[in-house]
Amino acid sequence: MQQSKYEEVITANISLHSKMADDYSTCEPHFRPENVEKVERKLSTLFREVNARKLLDLGCGTGFIINIAKKYVQHIDGVDVTQAMLHKVDLSGNAVINLHNSDTGSFPAVPGTYDIVTGYSFLHHLYDIKPTLKTAFTALKDGGKLYCDLDPNYYYWESIHQLDRNGSYDTIVKREIEMVTYKDEDIEKNFGVSKDTFNNAEFGKNIAGGFKEENLIADLKAAGFREVQILYYWFLGQASLINDTWGTKEERIKYADVMDSVLQRSLPVSRNLYKYMGFVATK
Ligand SMILES: C[S@@+](CC[C@H](N)C(=O)[O-])C[C@H]1O[C@@H](n2cnc3c(N)ncnc32)[C@H](O)[C@@H]1O
Repeated sequence: MQQSKYEEVITANISLHSKMADDYSTCEPHFRPENVEKVERKLSTLFREVNARKLLDLGCGTGFIINIAKKYVQHIDGVDVTQAMLHKVDLSGNAVINLHNSDTGSFPAVPGTYDIVTGYSFLHHLYDIKPTLKTAFTALKDGGKLYCDLDPNYYYWESIHQLDRNGSYDTIVKREIEMVTYKDEDIEKNFGVSKDTFNNAEFGKNIAGGFKEENLIADLKAAGFREVQILYYWFLGQASLINDTWGTKEERIKYADVMDSVLQRSLPVSRNLYKYMGFVATK
């Protein structure tokens, strides 16, 4: 691994997230109630499976996972390299919450003490995920689980990157070309963050082009995890379908769920259609 590049990516992250911290929890779409509910369903199942008391949240940011988890576990450690993001974490509630301003790749977690380790919308901010996977593996108890989510799926990114910005596609596709290939222009305009800084801060997405399922599994196995379950989310057009105007929202969500279940059953053939991926890895 190239150490100077690893550090350059960290510096870019601190710069980007220091600027975004004030508005982060109100502007980022994953804070919408329907997504919070979805993540809470996933997390509460995992908490039950391992009888969780203690959680380590890597790249915790302003506390997206902490806010959900504090209703279920007694002790939470959150780690983030951007102090401005940590300042926004809500420490209220019954759980003991400790925050650590550190790179997750070198964070000295006490070995074998956590039931669950999480990383939400996080791994793609790293130049190299291996040191962080090692931190997670070391931190977990035997049988403990690492849950990461909302990371970009390489096969989707690759499909979109191949398309011409001025091509005659449906708005569903045109919107994705802008979001996937030209997001850096939008960030430069709206946050005053240079394209270079933004792309480095999202190295795993904007430079590496997302994660390939097979590489993730290999990295997790090399870190020591014995079992990996890959999850795919958000098919192309799902947001348009849900936010359309026909019928009721409930009806549209139901159609989206039906379509999702067909596409899930059609994996791996339907893999290119899913924008995001996640996984649960067991120690
Ligand atoms: C997209 S935000 C996600 C925050 C939070 N998990 C959420 O879902 O809202 C990514 C976070 O990762 C942090 N980060 C980036 N690189 C890091 C590193 N090497 N070590 C620790 N935190 C890092 C950033 O500071 C930022 O707060």
